[in-house]
Amino acid sequence: MNQYFDNNKNLESNMQENKVKVLDTEFYMYTDNGVFNKKGLDFGTRVLLENLDIENKNSFLDVGCGCGPIGMYILLNKPDSVVDMIDVNNRAIKLTKMGLKKNHISGEVFNSDAYQNVEGRYDMIITNPPIHAGKQKIYKIVREAKSHLNKDGEVWIVIRKDQGAATLIKDNSDLFQFEVIDKIKGFWIIKGCLI
Ligand SMILES: C[S@@+](CC[C@H](N)C(=O)[O-])C[C@H]1O[C@@H](n2cnc3c(N)ncnc32)[C@H](O)[C@@H]1O
Repeated sequence: MNQYFDNNKNLESNMQENKVKVLDTEFYMYTDNGVFNKKGLDFGTRVLLENLDIENKNSFLDVGCGCGPIGMYILLNKPDSVVDMIDVNNRAIKLTKMGLKKNHISGEVFNSDAYQNVEGRYDMIITNPPIHAGKQKIYKIVREAKSHLNKDGEVWIVIRKDQGAATLIKDNSDLFQFEVIDKIKGFWIIKGCLI
């Protein structure tokens, strides 16, 4: 079965240009087969962005960027900030680069399995994590965020209640002080501050 994080070059392309609006921010996002979310902006990602408090932050890492909605939304609202975006799916990386160009914004987009190719530290790490990659991978993304955050850094996660939101909080509370910022239709928006 093809998961959306596979690099399957034989998967037929059906690229779409989507115009999306989150709060007052309108932008374009390219989607395609084999990339999350091929239907456009994911509801969980929308709720995450609607809650994200980026005001006092200047550098951001979007882990598992997919088609790039999180990083692009941040750049459109904070054009002077540093935004890096990573994914293991090369088609997603290509679509994110196209989206950045279309929206006239610039950020770094590169292939990285979790933080494998990440060198910097950031004020905020944001993720709509790859649930299908399994709990171990999700926990790696959450726990290793610690080594890539600046002092007072925050990790923001959107995860569904039935995908283990409460357990994720419990199991990682040794590293982060978590706060549930919002709960909508089973999606939990979780902020974790470095302890
Ligand atoms: C749920 S999607 C979120 C995509 C995008 N951020 C959004 O909100 O629409 C998770 C993304 O994580 C990527 N991913 C899967 N395993 C990964 C890994 N080990 N390291 C980094 N990204 C990964 C997938 O390819 C996918 O694009």
